[in-house]
Amino acid sequence: MPKFYLTTPLYYVNARPHIGHTYSTIVADAIARYKRMRGFEVVFLTGTDEHGETVARSARKAAKEPQAFADEVAAHYQQLWKTLGLEYDQFIRTTEPRHDAAVKKLFRAVKKSGYIYKGKYDGLYCVSCELYVTDPTPEGNCPTCGRPPERIEEENYFFKLSSFEKKLLEHYAKHPEFIQPETRRNEVISFVEGGLRDLSISRTRFRWGIPYPDDEKHVFYVWFDALTGYLSGIGYGSSGPEANEFARLWPADLQLVGKEIVRFHAVYWPAFLMAAKLPLPKTILEHGHWLMELEKMSKSRGNIVRAEPIHRVVGTDGLRYFLLRDMVLGQDSNFSYDVLVTRYNSDLANDFGNLASRTLTMIERYFAGKTPYPSAGADRARPDAEVATVAEQSITAAQQAYDVYNFASGLEAVWALVAALNKYLVETEPWVLAEEETKRARLATVLWTAAEGLRIATALLYPVIPSAAERVWRQLGLESELARVNLDDLSWGQLPTNAHLGKVEAVFPRLDKPAVIEQMRALEEEMVAAPVAGSNTSADEPKTWVTIDEFAKVEMRVAEVRAAERVPGTTKLLKLQVDLGNEVRQVVAGIAEAYAPEQLVGKKVVIVANLQPRKIRGLESNGMIVAASVGDQGRPVLVTFTEDVPVGARLK
Ligand code: MSP
Repeated sequence: MPKFYLTTPLYYVNARPHIGHTYSTIVADAIARYKRMRGFEVVFLTGTDEHGETVARSARKAAKEPQAFADEVAAHYQQLWKTLGLEYDQFIRTTEPRHDAAVKKLFRAVKKSGYIYKGKYDGLYCVSCELYVTDPTPEGNCPTCGRPPERIEEENYFFKLSSFEKKLLEHYAKHPEFIQPETRRNEVISFVEGGLRDLSISRTRFRWGIPYPDDEKHVFYVWFDALTGYLSGIGYGSSGPEANEFARLWPADLQLVGKEIVRFHAVYWPAFLMAAKLPLPKTILEHGHWLMELEKMSKSRGNIVRAEPIHRVVGTDGLRYFLLRDMVLGQDSNFSYDVLVTRYNSDLANDFGNLASRTLTMIERYFAGKTPYPSAGADRARPDAEVATVAEQSITAAQQAYDVYNFASGLEAVWALVAALNKYLVETEPWVLAEEETKRARLATVLWTAAEGLRIATALLYPVIPSAAERVWRQLGLESELARVNLDDLSWGQLPTNAHLGKVEAVFPRLDKPAVIEQMRALEEEMVAAPVAGSNTSADEPKTWVTIDEFAKVEMRVAEVRAAERVPGTTKLLKLQVDLGNEVRQVVAGIAEAYAPEQLVGKKVVIVANLQPRKIRGLESNGMIVAASVGDQGRPVLVTFTEDVPVGARLK
């Protein structure tokens, strides 16, 4: 069986995953499922990138040790992938001992080839991107994230990246498939043609990293460290049997990355590998970003979308379908709850879901739940043959698109079949045929044809909506395991006759759009109002000092709770009326799991009184209650005073 080794980026552990990280992992999961159906032995690796200055700063901000902090955030990643049913084979954490061994091994190999030397760096550095800034924007900012870099001077160990200019260009020319899509490939080529400078691969500014073997003051540059995760996760650096796995699986067949890290993967990474005399991955596949109202998602803009609320309200298949259908790989796409639910209702509920339930319900009703016998070929009518032709075309077109990871057009090809089948049912009117006993043979053929088309569409949809596809497969009475169906063998005419249908149930019930959008928004708000561990920090926010004047802008005051009640339909939210001395106002707070409403009435609390009003679950919230966030779950504990204080008193 040929192998197929694919990877996602290893995600930073500064903050919990959002929809962007989820997207990359879902794309990889869909590719893995597809390749398995094409007869490959797939190994799918994902993981977390846990060292470096940004992680150390985020941990400090959360008052945690870096390792404890990384453990928590890595657990969030693993938990979310499990909740979403993402089936990776390997999860590598760059703080694992097996990874440490691999980084040192790669380093020794690179050094042995003569590509390491000691030198001095004097220039700009972007802490957020962990990157030396050699080509700042005209305003002097980091070209990757747009933040102002810091000026630094340090003695470092350097990798002779400049020696690889020619070799890299030769490789790109010889292997046009190495960087995909094409547009990104051209950008990389012009970047390398512009000249490469040597790259510093050690740091002395912080300790949170893998110690540099020859010099204790240094730790490895986080990218030298993290990229090695693609090797360590499959056995590189091990002296046990895992080493054979590495020999068998490397080079990677596909490495999936977001557009902002193409340079690391298409320039630095192959250069490190060439220096260590290791083969290069076959393809680096770049995808674009999900934007929110056409802007980059970031914590500071407060526009981050997360997968959990969508999973809870629309389901994982609805989320996967939207993400894979609505983004053309390589381009950016705008995220919208509205489009997500519209797609769900029109494509999944109306088109595919209806096709499945109509077809199956009629077989249940007219043929006692057993797939009927179609007439012999000669007795079939023209529409039957037309549907069969569309199905065969769809099998070919969907696979051609999936082969180049173009899920959007693969799904369009399947929808051509779904649409043809719905039209077929409308035209042949099996519910009318069922009224006349003499038309029974025709009815059998029509329903067999519809069910056969449904079977083919379902098999082709498995990589994208695995859970719904598996349910429809069982409802069709098919005993084979859908995940193991070989798409090379998929063709028209294989639906067994006289097979018992499984229990027929709707796979995609229609959603009430305004209501579910409101539900998802509310859950999103709850996640913000009651943060769990790891969410109070962000890759976007390295520690920033505030001046006393800035602090003075925050108006914190003592207030007394006059009334409190739970916000219906939520577990975490309370609606409070608080008295600030000169006014009573409403505040919505995420403290319901720690405080009962009746406990709070008459209590004095601290309010941020000049926080911009906002709506939570449709309720106006005028201020925020101050609480300590305690323990792994971030349990809120309200601020108290050791002596009585008057309502309205200001905290300074
Ligand atoms: N730790 C590095 C990668 C090291 S790989 C050896 C890193 N981590 S990250 O947490 O910032 O994750 C970046 C990846 O998450 C992107 O490359 C992309 O795959 C995914 N996304 C993060 N935000 C995204 C969007 N808004 N949209 C789509 N995917 C994005 O960089």
